[in-house]
Amino acid sequence: MDINVMNGMLQPKSVAVVGASATKGKIGHTVMLNLQESKYKGGVYPINPKSEEILGLKCYKSVLDIEEPIDAAIITVPAKFVSGIVDECGQKGIKGLLVITSGFSEVGDEALEQEIVEKAHNYGMRVLGPNIVGVCSNSDNFNGSFAPFLPFDGTASLVSQSGALLIGIDAQTYTRGIGFDKLISIGNMSDVNFADMIEWLDQDKNTSCISLYVEGLKDGKRVIENGRKATKPIIALKSGVSAHGAAAAASHTGSLAGTSKIYKSAFDQAGIIQASDLDNLFDRTLVLSLQPPMKGDNVLIITNGGGVGVLATDSAEKFGVPLKFAPENLQEDLKKYMPSFGSAKNPVDLTGMAGADWYHDTVKIGFEHDWVDGLVILYCETAMTDPLAIAKSIKKAIDETGIKDKPIIVSYVGGERSDKAMRWLVENGIPAYGGPDVALNAMGALKEYAHVRELSKEVPQTYSDTDREKALDVISKARKEGRDALTEIESKQVFSAYGLDVTHAKIATSEEEAISFAEEIGFPIVMKIVSPDILHKSDAGGVRVDVNSVEDVKKFYNEILANAKAYKADAEILGVVIQEMAPWGTEVILGSVNDPTFGPTVMFGLGGIFVEVLKDVTFRVAPFSKLQAAQMMEEIQAAPILSGVRGEAPRDKEKLGDTICRYANMVSDLKDEISESDANPVLVYEKGNGLKVADARIILTKK
Ligand code: COA
Repeated sequence: MDINVMNGMLQPKSVAVVGASATKGKIGHTVMLNLQESKYKGGVYPINPKSEEILGLKCYKSVLDIEEPIDAAIITVPAKFVSGIVDECGQKGIKGLLVITSGFSEVGDEALEQEIVEKAHNYGMRVLGPNIVGVCSNSDNFNGSFAPFLPFDGTASLVSQSGALLIGIDAQTYTRGIGFDKLISIGNMSDVNFADMIEWLDQDKNTSCISLYVEGLKDGKRVIENGRKATKPIIALKSGVSAHGAAAAASHTGSLAGTSKIYKSAFDQAGIIQASDLDNLFDRTLVLSLQPPMKGDNVLIITNGGGVGVLATDSAEKFGVPLKFAPENLQEDLKKYMPSFGSAKNPVDLTGMAGADWYHDTVKIGFEHDWVDGLVILYCETAMTDPLAIAKSIKKAIDETGIKDKPIIVSYVGGERSDKAMRWLVENGIPAYGGPDVALNAMGALKEYAHVRELSKEVPQTYSDTDREKALDVISKARKEGRDALTEIESKQVFSAYGLDVTHAKIATSEEEAISFAEEIGFPIVMKIVSPDILHKSDAGGVRVDVNSVEDVKKFYNEILANAKAYKADAEILGVVIQEMAPWGTEVILGSVNDPTFGPTVMFGLGGIFVEVLKDVTFRVAPFSKLQAAQMMEEIQAAPILSGVRGEAPRDKEKLGDTICRYANMVSDLKDEISESDANPVLVYEKGNGLKVADARIILTKK
């Protein structure tokens, strides 16, 4: 990313408004007004061939007529004129274009959009949009948009794919009292996309938290990379997951994918936390912009009401920060500052009599205690207490501790006096919410952030013992034969080249070969039909297990061929696999798809009904670390089965974790070759005894 160019576009020292208008109500007029009303200090140059002057400023026929250098052009002329204007801007040496104009790819005209981006790039310019509202920045006094005003001032910055939503959010920043430095409309993302915005906002000194409204990502891989590198918290509200997911489903794995799960995993891998809805986006943005991550597990709640304390306790569990009793020494200290009928356990109940002093003393003691990783203060408005005085005492106590690396969150349940006190707290850097549930959700966000951040820093696992050339040989042989589906044996050869433990197998094309291979592998064996036209071998009567004698090999060889012919008369039959019969183990499934947004993505779950009926599966964008593989094993609902339930010995999770990573490594390394694949079933044995990939399938990319 050329920072100089991006700065020119998003923090311009001078702007031309191409399509500026003297007519009230036109976007070209509103943008001009907004630049003036936001007290923008840079030069503003209206461009309009028909006007001499707009809003008191000299008007130019073209950007080429301006003598001074121009950083950015805000374009508000109809779509058909934009391409010509891009040329003029390029010749003028403008750095970035904020293209407000609609009528490009969003209405099917991809070609015109492509044309303006290509032209812009040829001149070294970047394009934001088209189809945007514009850019608002408090720290630059820059309202280069047709949003009504700059947002309520603060340190979060929001990037929105929806222009209308951005305008709505702009207004709500005031009613909610949640401050933003920048609101950036990203529109069609013809050029500048979320990955660029994460990178740019991460280095922006006025942004403390990056908030995203996402409908769909372009360049998902780079979003993950830039998210991982980012030093600031990032939160995303992702909409429209379900419809998109269903459309992409082509294969078994694909149908289980559903983009919402893939997005969730990808965001986790990027260290980006998610919001569940718009309210939640605001609430979480507030806490992430004001407070540090919660690094440990221990939340202490201090309250003046038992009811909100219990509600908060329930919410704490719901949002991943379950409460524990405070240690004895902390309880003893707290008891000195509360009535005997209160409780110091956790929640610490100061009772309804609690005034500013009690809050001050207990907050200070609690925040300073090593055991406490995050503090939540609850207050129910009472007749004898002053909400603002309590707010001030909380702030004073926190300041006196000098601690900056632990979070504190406040929740007031009350009326107007409480609202005012909460505003005061927010203005003074302490997030405050109108209910314990929201406050605990916010603490959960800080914990989640600390967790995904740590995970995202993990480096993907690499292997030095893989044999890419061998895998490519197998693939190119199949391609030469005009096939885009590898046989089971070929698939296993590819898996094996990447270090996966597959069952030993050979293809027999005659009864004699079948017998000789069976003797070589050793009884019992499994026999399976090999045909690119028969994917579901069992349905076709093409599988025999536990074959124990030469006689049975002979018998089943002919039977399997006959069944296959009966199932599909014109099926191409390549032979019968004679395969080592792996002993029974816990069945798991590994699958991969080439996701259009994120590239190769791995699915993992337990086999059988877990995957077919319960869809109990999890995803990760490949490649990833062993810790991510361990997380995958933990986050499926059937996880306890792998750990050993009802007296069963635990499964070999170490080997399974390594296998998941190797599989991810394979699909990532061969992303141009493998369109989808699965290892199903993988039989996992007791701890220390490894596993076997019993069946394998690879579908190649179309070339
Ligand atoms: N250079 C400079 N100015 C030009 C020009 C050129 N090559 N060609 C035309 N203009 C002027 C027009 O004369 C007009 O000025 P005027 O009011 O003095 O006559 C001005 O540019 C605007 O052109 P006009 O034809 O009046 O268009 P408009 O204002 O009705 O609409 C857009 C222009 C860009 C606003 C409209 O095409 C559009 O895209 N609207 C949707 C934008 C949107 O909603 N974006 C965000 C989605 S979330």
